[in-house]
Amino acid sequence: MFILSANDIATLETYLQNQGWLINGERISQVSVPGEGNMNYVLRLTTPDRSFIVKQSRGYVEKYPHISAPADRVLMEGAFYQTTSVDPLIADFTPDLIGIDTVNNIMALEDLGRASDFIPLYNSLKALEIWQVAQLTDFLSTLHTRFSCESTPDSLKNKAMRALNHQHIFEYPFMKENGFDLDTVQPGLQAVATVYKSDDELKAQVAHLGQTYLSDGKCLLHGDFYPGSWLDTTQGIKIIDPEFCFYGPAEFDLGVMIAHLYLAGQNKAIVDFTLDRYNLINQIDYFTLNQFVGIEIIRRLIGLAQLPLQRTLQQKQELLRFARTLILPHTSAD
Ligand SMILES: Nc1ncnc2c1ncn2[C@@H]1O[C@H](COP(=O)(O)OP(=O)(O)O)[C@@H](O)[C@H]1O
Ligand SMILES: [Mg+2]
Repeated sequence: MFILSANDIATLETYLQNQGWLINGERISQVSVPGEGNMNYVLRLTTPDRSFIVKQSRGYVEKYPHISAPADRVLMEGAFYQTTSVDPLIADFTPDLIGIDTVNNIMALEDLGRASDFIPLYNSLKALEIWQVAQLTDFLSTLHTRFSCESTPDSLKNKAMRALNHQHIFEYPFMKENGFDLDTVQPGLQAVATVYKSDDELKAQVAHLGQTYLSDGKCLLHGDFYPGSWLDTTQGIKIIDPEFCFYGPAEFDLGVMIAHLYLAGQNKAIVDFTLDRYNLINQIDYFTLNQFVGIEIIRRLIGLAQLPLQRTLQQKQELLRFARTLILPHTSAD
């Protein structure tokens, strides 16, 4: 197995030549890290004439090496780009696939430039521009309607990644003893979370929603449509990192996007704009949508995949209460 590394350029060049990703005589002049990732090992390779991105998935999560993850997950991303590149709008929003190495779980991609992702949105008071929200929404509605089918192709079932995500979204945040002390995130957060970890009514609905997430649906989803997968480039917004893609309910992708609009403190008008614009192209079930919004908010506040959110404990409590009403609209909040 070839292990991608920034430290040995000679070996890297030989590898890239063997893959046909470097043209004869082309040399690497610089190796750098293009931006902060979570799951995988990602490098930007620069030659005298161009640059491109290489990404390797390994049997664990790069940011949390004690958590194992499907080693071949980068192949799912490759399959996503291969499938969706036939649509001009989706192709325009995503990097071109240069090649996939299925033996070593490495993929080469077009470099979208020195762009930052939208993670800073959580802590700035800046709202997303309306045209940016429109771009994000149009990407999703086009993806969901253009790639829709009754029977899921095996190449995009992505069962192992879905199982991993299921555990982190629908199970782990609600476990009383999961080894993660939330007070290390923010003093007092563990006690706040205990209310939700003991809420049997909520947990029953979440379990049900988890089954919806695990069952096959008819739209191709990005699977992780949050600000970390959105790049702010000079050419507008670009979308990357579809390693959690699968054929499922459109409400999941849209729900994740809207949850992050709330988590980033965007105003209600932005949320309504998103819903109206999306719904013109693809009709959604609002009950399920709200439930997915709710669970994404909860898992980002009391699960392992924390965001760089600077909110007071009380603000987090308010968000959690709001999320609960989205999942259980017919009962009163605690
Ligand atoms: N095609 C690309 N063009 C430019 N930058 C990229 C590209 N792909 C990834 N990056 C940068 O590298 C970071 C990590 O890549 P990403 O695919 O999100 O990895 P991970 O799966 O580990 O989260 C991104 O946040 C982005 O800053
Ligand atoms: Mg990422």
